[in-house]
Amino acid sequence: GASSAFNKDDFFECLTLQYQKSNSETDSIYTPKNASYSFVLQSAIHNLRSESNSAQKPVVIITPEHESEIQAAVYCSKKLKIQLRVRSGGHDYEGLSYVSETPFVIVDMRNIRSISIDKEKNTAWVQTGATLGELYYTIAKNSKTLAFTAGVCPNVGVGGHFSGGGYSMMSRKHGIAADHIIDAKLIDAHGQIHDRKSMGEDLFWAIRGGGGTSFGIVVAFKVQLTVIPETVTVFNVTRTLEQNATQLVHRWQYVADKIDENLLLRLFLRSINSSGRRTIGAFFTSLYLGRVDDLLPVMQKKFPELGLVKEDCTEMPWIESTLYFAGFQGQSLDVLVNRTEPFPPEASTPFFKGKSDYVKQPIPENGLEGIWEFLNKEDANRAELQFSPYGGRMNDFSESEIPFPHRAGNIFMIHYRVGWNLEENADSGRHMKWIRELYSFMARYVTKSPRAAYFNYRDLDLGMNNNEVKPSYKEASVWGVKYFKNNFKRLVQVKSKVDPTNFYRNEQSVPPVSSW
Ligand code: FDA
Repeated sequence: GASSAFNKDDFFECLTLQYQKSNSETDSIYTPKNASYSFVLQSAIHNLRSESNSAQKPVVIITPEHESEIQAAVYCSKKLKIQLRVRSGGHDYEGLSYVSETPFVIVDMRNIRSISIDKEKNTAWVQTGATLGELYYTIAKNSKTLAFTAGVCPNVGVGGHFSGGGYSMMSRKHGIAADHIIDAKLIDAHGQIHDRKSMGEDLFWAIRGGGGTSFGIVVAFKVQLTVIPETVTVFNVTRTLEQNATQLVHRWQYVADKIDENLLLRLFLRSINSSGRRTIGAFFTSLYLGRVDDLLPVMQKKFPELGLVKEDCTEMPWIESTLYFAGFQGQSLDVLVNRTEPFPPEASTPFFKGKSDYVKQPIPENGLEGIWEFLNKEDANRAELQFSPYGGRMNDFSESEIPFPHRAGNIFMIHYRVGWNLEENADSGRHMKWIRELYSFMARYVTKSPRAAYFNYRDLDLGMNNNEVKPSYKEASVWGVKYFKNNFKRLVQVKSKVDPTNFYRNEQSVPPVSSW
């Protein structure tokens, strides 16, 4: 509501003054008058859908190099009552790191991205503007047997990803990224910098999976790295309907969460053309933390139906497997540190909508056939379902250990995605309708009360905070309980304590409740 009296130049002036006070360089401030403004804004937008629907552009973008510059932005944003959005990698599914309905500024973390590795303790301090690719690359430069368990797309940002969970091809063996955070540097709502000790265990709990934005600006995370074998094995085996895809996917649900935890059998499902005919392709995309000769007997015993043979498999160092899963197989490791290289699905479908679900009971074959029908519809433009198996190490954590609550009992997570390009964007409504209809069809097969969802696949269809400054607890708990289950209450308590005026906010940030 404070927006009307706001003068766009005030923020720039306030910031310049604050920068001068702390002797900062001022060339990291971009306003629309600046020639690089558009480039800085666009270069970390990974879903054009949100941006194309929004009328507001950021008043100012800053790309700080020092904490004092972030503190200056917090100070001015508070003083002038203009919203502040933080962006690390810019992969937010709804674009909330660079889109807002009210006037706003962006603190873009791209220049705060150093990574330092302690080879004795197997730990790393990672600044949040680093990408996953930069983290993997740096680890591999230091060691052949260290790795980190986080997502497959190399230009996803550490800031948003670790804050919301971080599912990886090793999650059945090593859990998610947030499980390995052992310290953090955070700028709170008063602009003060904290580490784990000074922020206290409640706040430290909240920032390990409670979602980006709500609790402050994370400058860096300290993580425990994981020890892996020098050689791992990958394969990607495709089966069509004619090759029993339905039966295999059905069977997979009885195997994927129980099989040896060194093995993660992820499934991608798409409508494809095979010998001139439309069919469903089930892509079994897998990582085994070991050698092929140890993998084959596991598959023989637990999933012989897939018919995996040695020739399907490739052994490689773990770091090369990160290229393989990102669709850059055989390319130089340098693509991992190329921040603008689009991940293949992004390259062909820069506009997309995603949703998620959790499955605790295998979906029957006729349910799978229902999914195939959806995938074969015309509105299913370059659509894809991912089935990501849980079990293994994921079961070892209690639901409340960190805010990310999706643990024992889940067989797998579903990720739904539909994408389109610029020419198709005029007709985007039909793709949105398609994914929403599929989601309502799936209700009968997935978790209920709550119908759980993964925060990092943010979905504003689940609900939004309507009153910007004072969102209602009741409204927020509709989406909050889906992402965080019972942990949502504790997140609200922490928020009420550390940011009662709701300075750090967006459409799906944890609301404070003054009466706690
Ligand atoms: P972005 O910068 O957009 O931030 C996301 C949210 O966190 C925003 O609300 C933002 O304000 C906030 N935020 C960002 N930096 C912050 C900071 N330093 N402090 C506080 N808040 C901050 N997930 C997964 O688990 N496994 C996977 O394999 C993949 N793969 C994948 C591929 C592709 C192509 C996309 C688009 C996304 C994924 N994801 C994923 C989902 C991904 O984990 C999720 O979108 C992350 O939130 C992205 O983090 P970024 O920093 O890139 O986003």
